[in-house]
Parts: sequence; structure tokens; C-alpha cells
Amino acid sequence: MLNATGIDKRFGAVSVLEGVQLTLRAGEVHAVMGQNGAGKSTLIKILTGVIAPNAGTLSLAGQAIAPESPLAAQRLGISTVYQEVNLCPNLTVAENIFAGRYPRRGWTALKAIDGPRMLRETRALLQRLNIAIDPARTLGSLPVAMQQLVAIARALSVDAKVLILDEPTSSLDDSEVESLFAVLRGLRQSGLAILFVTHFLDQVYAIADRITVLRNGRFVGEWTPAQLPAPALVAAMVGRDVALASAESVDAEAPAKQDELEGSTPRLSLRGFGAQRRLHPLSLDLHAGEVVGVAGLLGSGRTELARLMFGLDAADFGTLQVQGQAVRFTHPAQAVRLGLAFCPEERKADGIVGELSVRENIVLALQARAGLWPCIRPTKQRELAQRYIELLGIRAADSDMPIALLSGGNQQKALLARWLATSPRVLILDEPTRGVDVAAKQELMNEVMRLARDGMSVLFISSEIDEVLRISDRIVVLRDRRKAGELPRGASEAQVMDMICEPAA
Ligand SMILES: Nc1ncnc2c1ncn2[C@@H]1O[C@H](COP(=O)(O)OP(=O)(O)OP(=O)(O)O)[C@@H](O)[C@H]1O
Ligand SMILES: [Mg+2]
Repeated sequence: MLNATGIDKRFGAVSVLEGVQLTLRAGEVHAVMGQNGAGKSTLIKILTGVIAPNAGTLSLAGQAIAPESPLAAQRLGISTVYQEVNLCPNLTVAENIFAGRYPRRGWTALKAIDGPRMLRETRALLQRLNIAIDPARTLGSLPVAMQQLVAIARALSVDAKVLILDEPTSSLDDSEVESLFAVLRGLRQSGLAILFVTHFLDQVYAIADRITVLRNGRFVGEWTPAQLPAPALVAAMVGRDVALASAESVDAEAPAKQDELEGSTPRLSLRGFGAQRRLHPLSLDLHAGEVVGVAGLLGSGRTELARLMFGLDAADFGTLQVQGQAVRFTHPAQAVRLGLAFCPEERKADGIVGELSVRENIVLALQARAGLWPCIRPTKQRELAQRYIELLGIRAADSDMPIALLSGGNQQKALLARWLATSPRVLILDEPTRGVDVAAKQELMNEVMRLARDGMSVLFISSEIDEVLRISDRIVVLRDRRKAGELPRGASEAQVMDMICEPAA
């Protein structure tokens, strides 16, 4: 259905794709896999007319094509959900789905947008996709996962021969992924060719009929999932075997300082802490040197907890103590001054400043804490940026390039670097591994555990239970915006799942 051969792409002196090929057949789900910065999104942008390749050819159903814009690609029958969702938060769900092709009514020159029809058709579409969202809601008022579903619904609202999804599931939880997959299976049955990018290996094996692997902008190979079991897939992506992050291996490097830290006043302590409609009052202690994992389903109150702790939202009940001192944050700057850091889940809206360089993005929080003056010296800035680029393996041609040009996963790592650079005493991480590749995930988690062993307190929020289990000294489970309980290190995945899902008494 869609064929690409000999694709080269250079940005200035940097070669991003070299001789890449891809064969997408009708009626298949084809996973394109590779590490952060391997060139997956760039390839997709070439297939869909966002950027032009320096060399290579494309064909659709045997006809040579050279789409000059995403709209041109869409007219050819290629529908795409890009990695960074580009919807309009101030419009409604229905308006977003029909943006650019609103249904009209009337017969004068001034045709009005047919609002009722738009709502009706959106409702039908969402129903068909099994998505429970009110079409009249303003998009920005929905959680990220819902917005992601709207972006997918938009792509599915036009007749297409090819559907391209760049990390569509990064914010979805298991049940939402399952309903998306049910839709994709139906579309596959009807002959659609589907290209799918993800960093979740289990999803690849659940849905893909074929896998193409890219490494450093080059084509490594094409396999069926049966030919390429997970460890072989990871090795093909990374070029070597990858060990899972584990507290044991970090402890083996440098023994935990747990003993000396034990018994001291908690670094951070919440008592009956919560807010109307956001979070039922809960109590929680964070000690120095400790990683506390937070598990829970979407909407269970994980992000709300983080935002309240960091002063992004105002708490209505209870107390928050830092090192035994009661404080009431009305602004995150106060939290930052007391040594807190918060890496938010929605990197594009709440995190990166696209026009600023990688370096400026990394020093941003540190500079903010110091005040606007004196400015951190450029040499010092460069040093800091370089240190974190190496530490977290951020793939950037140089630290002066705009951060928007980094691949999605590398932007995520730069955002983490921004907060690590402030040497926080309490680090709150909300889905820090979202969009980060398998190998980099392990490095990132190991680094977080190392910092904790040096005395930092970490609150680690993640939808991936296996990650939470591997990294945490203790696990707090949230359900329906309240604390369901705590589990010690060594708890099993089944125990966590039980607590997550158990209906509230
Ligand atoms: N306009 C640009 N100028 C310079 N470099 C760019 C530009 N666009 C992309 N790159 C670089 O191309 C490389 C490949 O990026 P791409 O976004 O395709 O990676 P990816 O495989 O999608 O990674 P991820 O899994 O993190 O999303 C990255 O190193 C990125 O920094
Ligand atoms: Mg990408």
C-alpha cells in the first residue's frame, strides 16, 4: 500500500535518516521501532508531507507520490496522528474533530457552520470507537489521555487507505489501549494499512503483524513478531543487550544510606492533606533517601496529588510539612525555594519552552530559583547542560539547538535534567518515562535510584506497575482520588493491581 525506499534526510550537517526503507501492506499493523532519536517521527513526517526527504522515493498503491503538505497526504488517503498532538485546547471536541472541514448549512454565500450536525456526527464517531467523551466539552478541560483519544478519533473520521499513529498510546491506560486495539483490529480487517510507533513492547506483540527496526537513522531489518522475540527486538534497536533497572544493582554499586537516614524527621509529611473535588484527605511521609512509588489508574488522583504538593493547586484540607515545618504553598516558587522539584507529565503544555535552546531549557529552573539576576554565566550553563546531556544520554546535535527539534523522548529527558540541575531535596516525577525508549528508561530509573541513595526523596508516579515495583521502597496506591493503601518493597504486581482495582468500601 505504502512503500518508501532509499530515504535520506539531513538537517544541516546532521544526517538523521540514511537509506531507510519501509513496506506497509494493506490489512496489516506495522510497528516501527527504535530508540529515542532513531528517526521514527522524521520518517513519518516524510511519509506525510510535513518535510521533504533529501533522497528516496515514496509510492502509494504502486503510484509514485511526493506529498507536499499533510493536507496533500490526507487527500491521497494517508491519515496521521503525530507524536505531539496538535489540537486546539480552546475548541470543543467536535470542533477539533472537524477543524478545517466544518460541515456547513444554508445556501447563501455566508454558509454557517452546522453545529448540531457536527455534534451529532462526532457523537456517532466516538460511540463507534467506544470513547465516552462529551463532544461539546472544551478539549483543554480533558485529561491528556482523553485528548489523545480525540486526536485518534479525528484521524479515523476521514476515509483513509493508510493510518499512521506516532506513539498514540503513551498516555492511555490498559483498558483504553485495549479499546483502541479493538478499533485497529476492525480497521485492519477492512483492509486499512496501519503504521504504529510505540515504546511499549507488549503492545507490539499484542497487535503488530510486522516490525521494522531503525537504529541511528538506518534500517536494521523487517520481521514478524514471531521471528523477533522481545530480547532480540531490544538488541536490534539498541545494538546490544539491555539489563532491567533494579534497586539491587544500584545498591550493589553504593550501599544505601538508609540506616543513617532512618528515624529522622520526614523530609516531607502530609496529614489529612487534600482539596475539594480533587483529592480526598490523605496522609503520607517521604523520608530522605527514599523512593515512594504512586500507583493508580487514570483519574485516581496521582497528578492532583503532585500538583497540590508542589503548590500548583491550592490545598483545602490538612497540613504539609517540610522538614517538620508546616508550610502552605500558594505558588510553586515557594516550593522550589524549599527544595521541591516537579517534573510534570504533559511535557509540551507544562514543560518545555520550544523556542529556547536545550541548554536554556535545562538551566531554566535553576535560574528561576536564583532569581532573574545574577544570570548564570554562559560557560556555567554550557557545563551544566553538557553534564546532563551525557548523564541522561540526551541525543542533541548541540546544546544550543532549539529543544523543539529534539525527538520526543529526548525532550522528556531534558525536562528531567532541568529539575535534577536544581539538586532538589524532594523530586516529584509524574510519568517521567513516558515516550522514553526501553534502554533509556533503565538508565533514567537507575539514575533516580542513585540520587535517592545519596539522600534525595523521590515521589515516582507511573502507570507502569512493573517500573513502580522495581524502583520504589514503598508504594502508595490511589483509587478514586483517595489513598487506598500502602505496600512495602517486594509487593507483587498482583497485590498492587488488587489494591488499584478493589472497589472503594
Ligand atoms: N528540524 C530538525 N533539525 C535538526 N535536527 C532534527 C530536526 N528534526 C529532528 N531532528 C533530529 O533528528 C533525530 C531523529 O528524531 P526523531 O524525532 O525522528 O526521533 P524518534 O525516533 O521519533 O524518537 P522518539 O522515540 O524520541 O520520538 C533527532 O536526533 C532529532 O534531534
Ligand atoms: Mg518520535
